[in-house]
Amino acid sequence: MCGIVAYIGPREAYPILIKGLHRLEYRGYDSAGVCLLHDELQIYKCKGKVSELELFIDGQDTSGTIGMAHTRWATHGEPNQVNAHPHYSMNKSLAIIHNGIIENYGTLRSELINRGYVFTSETDTEVLIHLIEDIKENEKVELEEAVRIALNQVIGAYAIVVLSKENPDMIIAARKGSPMVIGIGKDEFFVASDATPIVEYTNNVVFMNDEEIAIIERNKELIIKTIRNKTTTPYIQKLELSLTSLEKGGFDHFMLKEIYEQPRSIRDSMRGRLHLEQGIISLGGIREYEQKLINARRIIITACGTSWHAGLVGEYLLEDLARIPVEVEYSSEFRYRNPIISEEDIVIAISQSGETADTLAAIELAKSKGATVLGICNVVGSSIARATHAGIFTHAGPEIGVASTKAFTAQVIVLTLMALKIAMKKGTITQSRFFQILSELETIPEKVELTLKKNDEVKAIAKIYKDVRNFIYLGRGYNFPVALEGALKLKEISYIHAEGYPAAEMKHGPIALIDAQMPVVVIATRRGTYEKVISNIQEVRARKGKIIAIINEGDEAVKKLADHFIEIPETEEFLVPLIATIPLQLLSYHIAVMRRCNVDQPRNLAKSVTVE
Ligand code: M6R
Repeated sequence: MCGIVAYIGPREAYPILIKGLHRLEYRGYDSAGVCLLHDELQIYKCKGKVSELELFIDGQDTSGTIGMAHTRWATHGEPNQVNAHPHYSMNKSLAIIHNGIIENYGTLRSELINRGYVFTSETDTEVLIHLIEDIKENEKVELEEAVRIALNQVIGAYAIVVLSKENPDMIIAARKGSPMVIGIGKDEFFVASDATPIVEYTNNVVFMNDEEIAIIERNKELIIKTIRNKTTTPYIQKLELSLTSLEKGGFDHFMLKEIYEQPRSIRDSMRGRLHLEQGIISLGGIREYEQKLINARRIIITACGTSWHAGLVGEYLLEDLARIPVEVEYSSEFRYRNPIISEEDIVIAISQSGETADTLAAIELAKSKGATVLGICNVVGSSIARATHAGIFTHAGPEIGVASTKAFTAQVIVLTLMALKIAMKKGTITQSRFFQILSELETIPEKVELTLKKNDEVKAIAKIYKDVRNFIYLGRGYNFPVALEGALKLKEISYIHAEGYPAAEMKHGPIALIDAQMPVVVIATRRGTYEKVISNIQEVRARKGKIIAIINEGDEAVKKLADHFIEIPETEEFLVPLIATIPLQLLSYHIAVMRRCNVDQPRNLAKSVTVE
């Protein structure tokens, strides 16, 4: 959460910083600010989005070839101009931007107040810049050393950039727990929370590691040290990120573009892995751990939000196909629960961003207990991709809309390939069944494409229900995670209260909510517990609830029972989530647009949750 970007080089910094902030705005949009260094450290900041910052700055002097900028997701202190970043040190010789949380800020703040420091904001960040100034002035050390000493006193997570008016050709950047990438161009450097502000200028990047400090100086080599003062060699990597993948490409919103990208992203996530003609699945990223997976007595899946829902589908897949017991854990619960983990366990961490703080902590916990930790991640170079022992990337491409869509289906595809591969090796499915499933998998992108053609029908349903206050989503078996995901999508972008429930659980409580005003979305595809779901639909109808059914093509029985229906192509029971999720994504999208909500940047949310 929070996006940070900085630049030093021959160009004017301001346009690069503003463009960078727009790219990073998905990380938080409570307030935004810029600091430009030319003689003085000039800070401009305001509450609201980057576009509001641009209006605020309009007409001001924005010259300078070194600067930094920040877009905030508020943690300490309400979103207002005072709490917006950057923050000055007390004598205004230093300025800072920060992503993360300084947990011991209360103690540090009291000590600094006792030493005469005056705080203007409620943020934890201001503590850090006063502390750096204090160390610099009292210990008479260089800027980089002052930052290093200060960071040794800090408990918590940070990605910071510090500028000093006494060092007009230097940027100091550091990270622990929050991401940071340095772009290396010709005579210029870029620093950012992720590579999106950098890709336009260079594809040579260094992903900083935890507890590293970068000393970035004009026309000099990049220096990286640890906070224990050990110099390390920067590992320069080539970025594989296209600029067009960061644009809306003619769609009104990133979310809609990403929904429509799913035939492609599903195909890409299978490409080079599913070899239909040879009848094999190859998962290079986890090859070394294949035998361990085959022998696994238990798998624990850990994730948050939508990735947790994909994990739930993964549980069903791995148990159903590969016959391995699986537990699916919310990372935030798992990390504080003293879970029983042994060296024999395999933990699979799922994350789109690869930066979710709770999932990262869950990984570290599992590793400390000796478990093998595998990752399913969308962002190459991200903290989770690097923290796991091995893993498989979902090739969904950059997901910018805060609501996760194509990442979910890509995660489910990867889990499906994993489960099938283990099942085949273990002999829990026959070879002929395996081939049959591979052929079906190949048809999924096309079936998703056909489902996307139902957009207008979904939109018409959205129009009818856009003003309701509650929704219920029901599904059983593989469609239960789909119900949860449908409800999450609706609440996060349209602010309508929605509950996802296992259809049969409804009669144990939620049925009390059902009346003529309650829309109930039921995923009622054939196979599995289809007949049982029909009974659940009857129960809703008996209480006058409005049924919106997701059904297979030509299912006349449910059509008769439903107030509205969306037909989707038929597939294997365990592949249904890949298709049934699509109309639910579209439904929440259209409802949110009709309610004039900010679809790509819903209130209070951020794409990458780097605080716990
Ligand atoms: O990047 P991650 O997959 O680790 O993120 C996990 C959740 O924060 C994320 O899925 C969140 O729930 C989405 N906004 C849901 O659309």
